[in-house]
Amino acid sequence: MQRKVIIDCDPGQDDALMLFLAFAAPKELNILGVCAVAGNVPLEKTQRNICILSDIIGNENVPMFAGCDKPLTNVGLTAEHVHGREGIDGIDIFSPKTKLQPKGAVDFIVETLLSAADDEITLVVTGPLTNIASAMLREPAILPKIREIVVMGGAMREGGNITPSAEFNIFVDPHAAKIVFECGRPIAAFGLDVTHQVFTSPSVLERIAMLDNRVAKASHGMLSFFGRYDAQKYRAQGAPLHDPCTIAYLLQPELFELKSCNIRVETDSELTMGHTGVDFWGVTGLPANTQWAYSVHRDGFFDLLIERLSRY
Ligand code: BDR
Ligand code: CA
Repeated sequence: MQRKVIIDCDPGQDDALMLFLAFAAPKELNILGVCAVAGNVPLEKTQRNICILSDIIGNENVPMFAGCDKPLTNVGLTAEHVHGREGIDGIDIFSPKTKLQPKGAVDFIVETLLSAADDEITLVVTGPLTNIASAMLREPAILPKIREIVVMGGAMREGGNITPSAEFNIFVDPHAAKIVFECGRPIAAFGLDVTHQVFTSPSVLERIAMLDNRVAKASHGMLSFFGRYDAQKYRAQGAPLHDPCTIAYLLQPELFELKSCNIRVETDSELTMGHTGVDFWGVTGLPANTQWAYSVHRDGFFDLLIERLSRY
């Protein structure tokens, strides 16, 4: 059965790969809209990037929306040191044919959810959670309409990637993350514990290079760029494909191991701001609010990704 999804992201090369994977799954996913949020680069670039990626995909039907340009409370933070000045460095930047909708992302999310049935819409979130939390704050009646929130964010065993204990998406807007993790709807979270199990490698890049289509070529260009920084940082052979884990889970959940856990987000401490307190062993006695992903079948993940890229 096709799932109705709204995708909220901050491209980002790994967000781009997430979109490529999602748009290659028309049987499984009915994408109602793609929203941009400030994150890896400022909103003016993430909103342009979703339109560039839409052009590369050849998308004509799925509408694109611009969302929040800064976190709820904290000062914004970007990650050009990882993703490059444009966010999706590794491809040529051009002026996209795809245009943003006049409506803002938060309005789109609220209106779409309000007109849906209960448990009908899945939210896929691969950037800071600002747009989603803003929609929840504006209209709490949207909550029952959410089937599941599939989010890339957080870290437990792996430690942080932007501070010693925080993962980037949560760190940028911890107040938004707190609202989402406490919203009471089903959440599946893919943090660094699992996304650091899917680093690209030269052989993965070679397999993508063999594919002869525009999307695969763009993937190869972006991943070649993205790998440079992370290979050095993590002493790895490539870059972690954080964001595509969300869509891979929707397409092939059996690739992942998840455990029901309580997660609380730190919003006060200067030292551990944005830390996700994942109660993996149930020591707090607090009710589980999240399915926390902790393991992924690496080969199966890349087989899925590459097979879907070959469909373009
Ligand atoms: C997350 O932060 C961004 O840099 C990536 O796009 C991903 O969503 C990883 O911490
Ligand atoms: Ca992202």
